Amino acid sequence: MYAPPSQGQLPRYNRRSIFAVNAGGTGEAVAKDIEKEIAELRDKIRYHEHRYYVLDDPEIADVEFDKLMQRLNELELQHPDLVTPDSPTQRVGGSPASELPKVRHSTRMMSLDNTYSVDDLRDFDRRVRELAGRDQVEYVAELKLDGLSMSLTYEHGELTRGVTRGDGEVGEDVTSNIRTIRSVPLRLEAKKLALIGHPARFEVRGEVIMSRKAFEQTNAQREAAGEPKFANPRNSAAGSIRQLDPRIVAERKLDMFVYYLQVHGVELKGEHAHALETLSQMGFKVNPHWKRCPAFGDLLAYIQEWESKRDSLDYEIDGIVIKVNDTRLWQELGTTAKAPRWAVAYKYPARQATTRVNDIRAQVGRTGTLTPVADLEPVDVGGVTVSHATLHNMDEIERLGVKIGDTVLIQRAGEVIPQVVKVVKQAEDGCAFVMPKKCPVCGEDVHRAEGEVAYRCVNTACPAKLKESLLYFAGRRAMNIDGLGEALVDQLVDKGMVHDAADLYKLTHEQLSELERMGDKSAQNLLDEIGRSKKEPLARVIFALGIRFVGERTGQLLANHFGSLDKLAQATPEQLVEAEEVGPRVAEAIQEFFEEKRNREVIEKLREAGLQFTQVQTRKADGKLTGKQFVLTGTLPTYSRDQAKEMIEANGGRVVGSVSKKTDYVVAGADPGSKLDKARTLGITIVDEAGLLKLVGK
Ligand code: IVH
Repeated sequence: MYAPPSQGQLPRYNRRSIFAVNAGGTGEAVAKDIEKEIAELRDKIRYHEHRYYVLDDPEIADVEFDKLMQRLNELELQHPDLVTPDSPTQRVGGSPASELPKVRHSTRMMSLDNTYSVDDLRDFDRRVRELAGRDQVEYVAELKLDGLSMSLTYEHGELTRGVTRGDGEVGEDVTSNIRTIRSVPLRLEAKKLALIGHPARFEVRGEVIMSRKAFEQTNAQREAAGEPKFANPRNSAAGSIRQLDPRIVAERKLDMFVYYLQVHGVELKGEHAHALETLSQMGFKVNPHWKRCPAFGDLLAYIQEWESKRDSLDYEIDGIVIKVNDTRLWQELGTTAKAPRWAVAYKYPARQATTRVNDIRAQVGRTGTLTPVADLEPVDVGGVTVSHATLHNMDEIERLGVKIGDTVLIQRAGEVIPQVVKVVKQAEDGCAFVMPKKCPVCGEDVHRAEGEVAYRCVNTACPAKLKESLLYFAGRRAMNIDGLGEALVDQLVDKGMVHDAADLYKLTHEQLSELERMGDKSAQNLLDEIGRSKKEPLARVIFALGIRFVGERTGQLLANHFGSLDKLAQATPEQLVEAEEVGPRVAEAIQEFFEEKRNREVIEKLREAGLQFTQVQTRKADGKLTGKQFVLTGTLPTYSRDQAKEMIEANGGRVVGSVSKKTDYVVAGADPGSKLDKARTLGITIVDEAGLLKLVGK
């Protein structure tokens, strides 16, 4: 991942010509050179932003990208007159708005009619065919992204406006927030504009979404800051896009898929599929899973395919959208009051069910936050038995008005913990939940800090906190210790075998074999996993420590900036804020963490255990693999995918996602995917882990 531009004071756009300040012979020549360098840098950055955020296929290492960005920032700071609003440095500019201005849409932003069954869909198809006077109509099926609609206006190739749907007629101007979305081009080159005939003005519409991963990060940050969590990615995206401070929006990592192109004053002709292709070619992010469906049966197959695959996506969908492909028919078919007749949504059955709240209890998290959780009468929700749902916090309980004994509607989405949507029937003798005054796990006091929604257990040694922090430490995105789950952590803590994360590295085979449901083999597997985790890079170690506000990305940025855990631990607040994306609040949390004696002791134990306390230099210019492109497939025997990538990059090589003629090596492990077949077809050298180690001279 690479860093957004600095969030400090950015130079404001100024239209004055450079010659006004820098007139004169040589000055002019120098200015020309600088102007040229700036223009080249911007082109390069735009190109790499597109590769990274839209195509998901970066060509250069993050550090190299950062260098380009730094250089541009530097030049723009020295020459504020050359700053333009479409410069890649200007994604986060300006100050918070006091309220969002209202804007009228040029043409109404319509909604879609919903269908819920194959019969409904057949009716839709029949109506379309009748109105069109054809026997068969080709459709395009797309995923129905669960976000919020957005309209973007470009004038002379430059993004000038982003407006929410609002009531369809009038929406809210959220331009500065839209500009923070990296996959949204701020400007289109002439070559791209030429694809649609250089219109002075055009509009694209699409969906702003938040990935599940960004949603989890946002909520983790909000929890750590004592703010109420968002219920789902959609709410989180909606809340973020309407934020008044674009700097906060930039932290939220929104994304946007576009699905509609309108060139003002131009009659529609051609195909919707062609519009989608054109939007991609223009550099917009179009969801890749759309499909032409020439026959009605193709629609049904598409619906089925995505109903089973939807959980594998990193964002939520709530159905699919079916559109007539021939856009000339769009005009003929027209619209109803709120929706077009040429498109329809097929909604997947909501994963909801009603059940009884048997109890509400407080669960203690890693940071000591007490989260109210509803124990439910077990119920099947879309094939999964659900017996708990989160109630988030006291504010949410109040909002829902839920009591023990009530019958509630619950909902499951993706892999997130089920939610309570509403109370459907109040119990006559319903019992209100009261936040306990003492921690249910350790019995120490519970406090609610002023201005915070969350209640916390004050005991730093609370076993519940320890358990949660161990799970966090071992998590997939942290030290990635596979097999260290809840049941095991419970035993390790309860039996007094582990008092902190570093104790994990002292566990013996003998100790582990004593545990319940732990055979010889699983004990060995776990030990292997723990041993393997020592190779995880510094960025993950920093993240795994669980410092407040320090997520995965900040962990990476801190590792890049400081290069070692010791340097990070010794950094002053002034030095800390020099790292990218680190503000005073984060700096304070980092300092507090390292000041705490107990944390320092654990860190020393982790050092003794042999964890990576220094950053392996990424991407050497003169490494053994410099200039070589790699693709990884399958599971390697001892290295994780990230570790292998790190090793290749440390030796100057580059890892990309798909095999092409440009690929030099495919590193294949167990259960390789189709990439291996492709490599064979193209005659690319295939190596295993041992082969890779040989290449880097290990
Ligand atoms: S087309 C007139 N395509 O669903 C065409 N909408 O329930 C209107 N949505 O307001 C939109 N994914 O916010 C379209 N692939 C997709 C979509 C999509 C999500 C949203 C959109 C719309 C809502 C209607």
